[in-house]
Amino acid sequence: MVTGAKDLTPIELNRLHPVIGTEVRGFSIADPGDGDRIDEIKRAWLEHPVLVFREQPICDTDQIRFARHFGELEIHPSLAHQASGHPEIYRVSNVDEAGNILPDKSNEWLYLNLTWLWHSDSTFREIPSKGSILHGIEILKNGGDTLFANMQAAYEHLDDQTKARLEGLTVIHSHDHIISLSSELSRRQDQGEYTELPPVSHPLARAHPETGQRSLFLSPHTMVAIEQLPDPEGRALLDRLIEHATQNRFVYRHRWREHDVIMWDNRCTMHMVTPFDNQAQRRIMHRTTIVGDRAPIPASGMT
Ligand code: SIN
Repeated sequence: MVTGAKDLTPIELNRLHPVIGTEVRGFSIADPGDGDRIDEIKRAWLEHPVLVFREQPICDTDQIRFARHFGELEIHPSLAHQASGHPEIYRVSNVDEAGNILPDKSNEWLYLNLTWLWHSDSTFREIPSKGSILHGIEILKNGGDTLFANMQAAYEHLDDQTKARLEGLTVIHSHDHIISLSSELSRRQDQGEYTELPPVSHPLARAHPETGQRSLFLSPHTMVAIEQLPDPEGRALLDRLIEHATQNRFVYRHRWREHDVIMWDNRCTMHMVTPFDNQAQRRIMHRTTIVGDRAPIPASGMT
């Protein structure tokens, strides 16, 4: 039975960090109630780009149904990481579907290992993802935390000269760049099976399509080069911006509990996983990734 909004406890928001990371209380992902409750979550999400829901023992179907309230769902380009039966689920896991730990040198693990680097999801697409929803199914006692950086706060705290310098700059992003970051995987002839994706160009500073708020648009995972600046000048600027954006004052560290669900806005955040012993410990997370509505808008394109 789906409960009517009037029978449900009110949704409460509790900040976990001054600029990013907010816990949502009084909401069930499996039984969210009517459209008004979903609209409440949509409003909260625009103001709080990382929402944390505790104690949500959902199945993949619940997760997919909830995620579809926010848009179409992406199918991840890495075929090996799609859940069989539910291609909309991206398995961010060091354990295969049969329950075996992925060998350290397997293509599947080497690719996933790159989630330990800062990134935002699907920046290799012309229209990158709007947001992602991640369910912690088997979590760790040590390591395997997820860090989230608020790219709006990072942009706001740049000096005026740097903000002006970013205007009009664009960055080439490519899925192949992810693989190039693993020295082991990039050397191989068989690197795993992926849907082909050509490189794309995105602004280095962007405006949020719904709120108009400006943010840095960084995803070290896929960023090849700034189109208007030669290297090493372009690389040095990217490195300086990454260092600035990932300071503790802009970053929330999530220590997972079983059946936590996190929903983040890819249009104004980036994230990474902290290292863990991937051969001795099991970490199973299921992600749904929401398709973006439009290509990123340059920060200067919105007033
Ligand atoms: C991801 O990079 O989307 C997954 C993050 C995580 O596994 O915590």
